[in-house]
Amino acid sequence: MQKFIPVVVIKEMSETDKILTALKKSNIMCAEITFRTACAAEAIEYASKNYPDMEIGAGTVINAEQCEAALAAGATFIVSPGFSPSVAKICVDRNIPYYPGCVTPTEIMAALEYGITTVKFFPANVYGGLKALKALSAPFPQVKFIPTGGVDRSNIDEFLAFDKVAAIGGSFFVKEALEKLAE
Ligand code: 3PG
Repeated sequence: MQKFIPVVVIKEMSETDKILTALKKSNIMCAEITFRTACAAEAIEYASKNYPDMEIGAGTVINAEQCEAALAAGATFIVSPGFSPSVAKICVDRNIPYYPGCVTPTEIMAALEYGITTVKFFPANVYGGLKALKALSAPFPQVKFIPTGGVDRSNIDEFLAFDKVAAIGGSFFVKEALEKLAE
């Protein structure tokens, strides 16, 4: 998996090329295109076809229907803000990486029951940040985290320094890449 997972919101299909080109130019070869907009599935399909060197996944997937739409569009990984048993089942059955949002021991245990050992930690800044990750890692040494939500340049390094952090997610990667593109 990629170390940096930009959380991408595509409001209009016409934005897709600009955002993906900007990410590539910033050496971010991945995009989590979120199901927060009507064109999410279409954008995933377009991105998968036109940016084959990038890892294109779906984010904000909150039910089985969205998961099916994301996979049909070509998403190679699925992210949820919370844990969805129905999404977990689909992904495990088809061998698709699924990163559910888990911030409590109970949620982590639910993910583990599906064999999922890498989870999104969201919103990272609200649920205790690095301190919480370290505390959760004591009972769950097999679990890796993707802190997301409130992560930016000011705190990314402290998360990256922790060996249980598999990757970092955030919308700031997109913002930074677009700013760099405009320079
Ligand atoms: C997400 O869905 O992962 C978040 O909206 C990302 O949070 P951020 O905008 O604080 O990075």
